[in-house]
Amino acid sequence: MNIAVLGSGQVGQTIGSKLVQLGHDVMMGSREEANPKAVVWAKEEKHNAVFGTFANAAAFGEIIFVCTLGSVTLDALYLAGAANLKGKILIDTTNPLDYSDEKHWKLTVCNTDSLGEQIQRAFPEAMVVKTLNTLYCTVMVDPEKLVETTDVFVSGNSATAKASVIKILHDWFHWKRIIDLGDITTSRAVEMYALLWRSLRLAKSSHSFNIKVVSH
Ligand SMILES: NC(=O)c1ccc[n+]([C@@H]2O[C@H](COP(=O)([O-])OP(=O)(O)OC[C@H]3O[C@@H](n4cnc5c(N)ncnc54)[C@H](OP(=O)(O)O)[C@@H]3O)[C@@H](O)[C@H]2O)c1
Repeated sequence: MNIAVLGSGQVGQTIGSKLVQLGHDVMMGSREEANPKAVVWAKEEKHNAVFGTFANAAAFGEIIFVCTLGSVTLDALYLAGAANLKGKILIDTTNPLDYSDEKHWKLTVCNTDSLGEQIQRAFPEAMVVKTLNTLYCTVMVDPEKLVETTDVFVSGNSATAKASVIKILHDWFHWKRIIDLGDITTSRAVEMYALLWRSLRLAKSSHSFNIKVVSH
């Protein structure tokens, strides 16, 4: 399958590499056509990995992973172009974080709105599914590296898009526990979790963890 990964950071590279390993053709999108990180990533992958602008990648992908800096994700998607996103599933891994105070991260949107909702409103003809944003990137694509089976969440308005994403999470990344939280407004909760994730990361001195939901 042709897949777009919008973003040349850690998440884009980790997801992009996993998709290439699975045999997909991946185009990494950036603001520049030849972003140095994307060029190095494609070279290291050797096969099935190419790079281009956000618009080139979005046009190429049958499915689009959104892996851009949260505070500017809408800008990146406007560069990708509504016509290139139309009718496609957008797997939104972003968190709307403001890192200006290194000690106390803030959210650029929260409580009554979320980045997932903003993306869905801005691109109503795309099907946004928020997922994986509650995890460090290496855990996103390899949950089995954790010592227990843990949970990942999906949020989105389209039941068929969520079913496709659940299948991707299960079949490609081996997620066994996937909780459908509901429509895209449930992105608010998983985005606000980013602050707890940050506290846990500092408390545990590790990125490699996740939460597990248990009932009695
Ligand atoms: N790091 C993790 O493990 C992790 C875990 C969970 C969720 N997340 C979320 O995943 C997303 C990606 O995180 P990351 O650490 O991989 O990378 P990042 O540094 O947050 O984002 C890098 C991407 O953002 C793009 N970007 C930066 N400024 C831009 C602007 N002004 N306009 C348009 N695009 C711009 C960059 O474009 P260029 O390619 O052109 O430079 C690059 O592709 C974030 O929303 C983050 O909160 C990250």
